[in-house]
Amino acid sequence: MTQHEASVASVALLDLARDIAVRAAEFALDARRAGVSVAATKSTPTDIVTAADRDTETLIRSLILESRPDDGIVGEEDAAHIGTSGLDWVVDPIDGTVNFLYGIPAWAVSIAVVEGGAAGLGGTTLAGVVVNPVTGELFEARAGAGARLAGRELVVNTGVALGSALVGTGFGYAAERRREQAAVLLELLPHIRDIRRGGSASLDLCSLASGRLDAYYERGLNAWDHAAGALIAREAGAQVGGPHGGRESSELIVAAAPGLFEELSDALRAAGVDA
Ligand code: IPD
Ligand code: CA
Repeated sequence: MTQHEASVASVALLDLARDIAVRAAEFALDARRAGVSVAATKSTPTDIVTAADRDTETLIRSLILESRPDDGIVGEEDAAHIGTSGLDWVVDPIDGTVNFLYGIPAWAVSIAVVEGGAAGLGGTTLAGVVVNPVTGELFEARAGAGARLAGRELVVNTGVALGSALVGTGFGYAAERRREQAAVLLELLPHIRDIRRGGSASLDLCSLASGRLDAYYERGLNAWDHAAGALIAREAGAQVGGPHGGRESSELIVAAAPGLFEELSDALRAAGVDA
């Protein structure tokens, strides 16, 4: 495939991801307005799933397969669908489910298209869309082509020192993991401006991309939490990485403008994280 053909293909993938994310966002918002309750718990009693999470993912899966029957799908609420095309759609139907439950307007539909990854892990993210259905904000990016919010090019904050940095993070659902995360925060907090816990990893990464945060880190995310948001942050100029100078993973994601990325990674290491 020539570079031009690859670029045309990724524009088409982003267009489809956007269409599907917008339809899913409308569906999930209607479900929220109709009322919401916990359908089940997953890894722990606080790790919840609502009927809307499941139904929105079902809708997204059917829309993807309608247009691209050979692609794979990795989603939060159902088993991986193995494709044959080399492309995987990495889907979080409602990222920020606890915010969704409480009516806090910070939850999102997150969809990424990843090439050459095993079931969405590893590989290269070609396109990513994150929609906040309550605010109507739609963040999107295409590899090598920048990130946008409502047509406006996104650029991360630069030249911010760690001591002045507003840093986003999140916590997992397991008690032991949270204890570790709190211990890291205890060390980090005296060295930064302040911390924000938004409750939706994909929106946290979009906040970084749009200058509402200076940096973001979290341990224990899944690919569907960060695949689209990490591309949007990268395309807005963030350095995004994981443990020991490697790429982001379920172990760790760190994201910030390049100088701050180093400072934050050092501070996380000093706080006991394998950054
Ligand atoms: C969660 C959110 C949260 C993050 C958790 C994720 P969910 O996703 O992204 O901000 O801290 O680690 O699990 O469960 O709301 O889809
Ligand atoms: Ca999630």
